[in-house]
Amino acid sequence: MFRSVAHAAAFALIAVPRFVRADCECGYSLKSDNDFAVFTDLIETDFLHASGENLTEYGWRPQEYDVPAPTSRGPLGKRFRVDNLVPNPLKNETGWTGESELGGEAGLQLWVRADNISSGFISGSEMAHVRDDFRHGSYRVGMKLAGENGTCGAFFYFHSDAQEIDLEFLSKEYTNNGGAVNLVLQTPESVASGYDASNTSAYKVKELPFRPDDMFHEYRFDWYSDKVIFYVDGKVLHEMTEDIPVEGGRLFMNHWSNGDPKWSAGPPEKDTAVVVSYVKAYFNSTQEARFDAHRERCPTYDPAKVCAIPAQTVAPDGDAAGTYFFSKDEATEKTPGQIMYKGAASSSFLASTTLLTLLPLFAALFSSAFSL
Ligand SMILES: *[C@@H]1O[C@H](CO)[C@@H](O)[C@H](O)[C@H]1NC(C)=O
Ligand SMILES: *[C@@H]1O[C@H](CO)[C@@H](O)[C@H](O)[C@H]1NC(C)=O
Ligand SMILES: *[C@@H]1O[C@H](CO)[C@@H](O)[C@H](O)[C@H]1NC(C)=O
Ligand SMILES: *[C@@H]1O[C@H](CO)[C@@H](O)[C@H](O)[C@H]1NC(C)=O
Ligand SMILES: *[C@@H]1O[C@H](CO)[C@@H](O)[C@H](O)[C@H]1NC(C)=O
Ligand SMILES: *[C@@H]1O[C@H](CO)[C@@H](O)[C@H](O)[C@H]1NC(C)=O
Repeated sequence: MFRSVAHAAAFALIAVPRFVRADCECGYSLKSDNDFAVFTDLIETDFLHASGENLTEYGWRPQEYDVPAPTSRGPLGKRFRVDNLVPNPLKNETGWTGESELGGEAGLQLWVRADNISSGFISGSEMAHVRDDFRHGSYRVGMKLAGENGTCGAFFYFHSDAQEIDLEFLSKEYTNNGGAVNLVLQTPESVASGYDASNTSAYKVKELPFRPDDMFHEYRFDWYSDKVIFYVDGKVLHEMTEDIPVEGGRLFMNHWSNGDPKWSAGPPEKDTAVVVSYVKAYFNSTQEARFDAHRERCPTYDPAKVCAIPAQTVAPDGDAAGTYFFSKDEATEKTPGQIMYKGAASSSFLASTTLLTLLPLFAALFSSAFSL
């Protein structure tokens, strides 16, 4: 069996010279003062280099549907449109700064449109990850919020209206030099009070010492079985310990307005966009098949085969925009057995690989094949 694995690897290496050995077979670990957790799965999307028309190749499905008023819970309906999601990658396919294809801030744009209100709808944007098996894990987004008053930008896990973990930014709450983020766990209790989480323990408005539309920051939530911890740029913002969701679900991002003066406000006076530079999730799946795959590559827990998830401790903007992706690591394969989407390292690795660097790879491969 080992011999045939080595043989298959040799064949793969000749066909697609990539990596000789892998790391992270036993998962990705998260360590803080009080917690240590290991997760089996990852998804990573680099929107600074995501180009083309079809976001689904990157794992994200743009949504297209209408929610008319008053079901929208506002005076106007919500109209989610595929063409309000606009990829705007950097021109430089390997660099992290410089000009973008369409001009302005590089990243995926999620637009809310100011026109067409007479239709009774405000046109906005939403995307959902193609996977629906996200459960406990660390969920991270690099984004710059929209500047126009009257929209809500959100990053969230969703199972149902009663099981949801939400980071919601209301541009009406921004001040001269500060902002706020609404942290929400939708619970059976908030459903019972007409989707108003504001009187439940699972709702918290946290002030931010910066305007979220000034630059990119990393917003994050770590979901454990007994708590959810929210972070900004690696610093703890808030912790919730009640009504923690238990079911798996999807990851979403959206940007919308329905004119509700008590929430999104608006409509905005001008078209306005949230810009997303990345989404990263290190998590345990709800799928038995994913646990089987993990058991297969990690039959006995080996700490040497666990990779520590780096903390993003500064705003991922400007010179710090180039953040770490396991899926782009060119030294060793760090995503063995993971479900991968467009944008991982292989093609750029190949393009930048010379014969000189390939030779030692072949030598290493054949010596390990012979020793088996
Ligand atoms: C995730 O799943 C792995 C494999 O079953 C398990 O060892 C680990 O404890 C789980 N992590 C959490 C935080 O539940
Ligand atoms: C977009 O990509 C997905 C996933 O690769 C594929 O299933 C779908 O057919 C593509 N859509 C178009 C319009 O090409
Ligand atoms: C693109 O980025 C790479 C890596 O930072 C850099 O070496 C290269 O000079 C850049 N190319 C251009 C055209 O700016
Ligand atoms: C504008 O409204 C019309 C009529 O309701 C609708 O067909 C069209 O899709 C809307 N355009 C946008 C960008 O939402
Ligand atoms: C946004 O507009 C609302 C009224 O629609 C107003 O109450 C609020 O103060 C405004 N916020 C900012 C940041 O201008
Ligand atoms: C929430 O609490 C406030 C103040 O205690 C009250 O005025 C309001 O009606 C409550 N909202 C709901 C939905 O219960």
